[in-house]
Amino acid sequence: MTNIAVFGTGYLGATHAACMAELGHDVLGVDVDESKLAKLESGEVPFYEPGLEEVLKRNIGTGRLRFTSSYEEAASFADVHFVGVGTPQKKGEFAADVTYVDAVIDGLAPLLTRPAVIFGKSTVPVGTAERLGRRARALAPAGAEVDLAWNPEFLREGFAVQDTLHPDRLVLGVDREGPGRAEEVAREVYADLLAEKIPFIVTDLATAELVKTSANAFLATKISFINAMSEVCEAAGADVTVLADAIGHDDRIGRRFLNAGVGFGGGCLPKDIRAFMARAGELGADQALTFLREVDAVNMRRRTRMVEMAREACGGSLLGARVAVLGAAFKPESDDVRDSPALNVAGQIQLQGATVTVYDPKAMDNSRKLFPTLGYATDVSQAVEGADVVLVLTEWRQFRELQPGRVGPLVRQRSIIDGRNCLSPKGWREAGWVYRGMGRS
Ligand SMILES: NC(=O)c1ccc[n+]([C@@H]2O[C@H](COP(=O)([O-])OP(=O)(O)OC[C@H]3O[C@@H](n4cnc5c(N)ncnc54)[C@H](O)[C@@H]3O)[C@@H](O)[C@H]2O)c1
Repeated sequence: MTNIAVFGTGYLGATHAACMAELGHDVLGVDVDESKLAKLESGEVPFYEPGLEEVLKRNIGTGRLRFTSSYEEAASFADVHFVGVGTPQKKGEFAADVTYVDAVIDGLAPLLTRPAVIFGKSTVPVGTAERLGRRARALAPAGAEVDLAWNPEFLREGFAVQDTLHPDRLVLGVDREGPGRAEEVAREVYADLLAEKIPFIVTDLATAELVKTSANAFLATKISFINAMSEVCEAAGADVTVLADAIGHDDRIGRRFLNAGVGFGGGCLPKDIRAFMARAGELGADQALTFLREVDAVNMRRRTRMVEMAREACGGSLLGARVAVLGAAFKPESDDVRDSPALNVAGQIQLQGATVTVYDPKAMDNSRKLFPTLGYATDVSQAVEGADVVLVLTEWRQFRELQPGRVGPLVRQRSIIDGRNCLSPKGWREAGWVYRGMGRS
């Protein structure tokens, strides 16, 4: 078994650290956020991720999983280092801010006195890994004995534990300039996964980095494709949900990721497609990705459209209207509100003069931090109380299973807009509601 350090204990890093311990390794999670570390040390996951708390507690209990803010401790404890810190969008630019990744290498490499392998997991612009490998070898006392490889992460929030322990595939980019140990070490670390015959793709650094960004670009494109069809369906009086089912039967197309609605958000897809465009521009390949501008634009238009639909439902003006927003997280089974369409729509509606009350089963604390001026309810009933229109913007099961008859007596107007096309129009209409979906006549 291997001694592993994981730098960054956010959505990716905390999950990776706990899951590596679950595989039997001895793991040290490293972060600069002391309050996050204190929570993790006490067995509390600082965010919502189903199933993670059990894995965390179990492995803290066995002593295989510990946390620290000390890079010195990490460097003396581990010979394998994973980097999972954030790579957000730069302020005012499309490009990714890689300063956190750089800071890990600058902090760690000077402490590496023995041969070590650093695996990057964060999503980075192509070319970053090669640069970091050179930098690590230049800064480390162990010099040429330091290997840096890229092992992009594909986990989905909400399924992060399952995706880490049983991924669709493992991708490893190795550095031809390095000492050449990374593949062997990765095979040891992931031995249990490889025994499950999970596909393991070993390639160069640039390809590994691009696998991640192109996968996200493809997924974003698929969602914006169906949302573009949704715009056409609205104009033509057609139904995008039937259209998606029908085209989805074609194996070459597939039904997944073809749900029209208020579009994608979160801490990955929006910033990753923008960083991808910025990087392609730097490489002189910007024409190849100009379509992603359109993908981004279609996505953002859906938010505007939702605001318009809410305004129409309130008789042409949002001034003085009461709007209930069900959902704040960018998707169900997560408390992540980074670039969340739901909160963005709620904010825009409030700016147009409405009183907005938001409810989300898990994302209330994060929402309050990001949008402190919105109203927040403690449950669905409180959120919809006296509402002129109810918007379902995150398809939590609790909202999908909402009983129109139970909510009806609470609202001022029985008007619902289904921003995720996750409700039954028939059921709501039969209960006397005006139901509007996105891209549905
Ligand atoms: N969240 C996902 O679903 C997901 C999936 C695949 C890939 N990724 C990628 O993984 C990376 C991390 O994303 P996330 O969602 O976990 O972000 P996050 O913001 O939840 O976590 C990042 C963590 O890094 C810590 N950190 C910052 N600087 C540090 C330093 N110098 N040393 C140690 N720790 C430091 C922060 O305190 C924070 O806890 C990003 O590149 C993201 O694109 C995320």
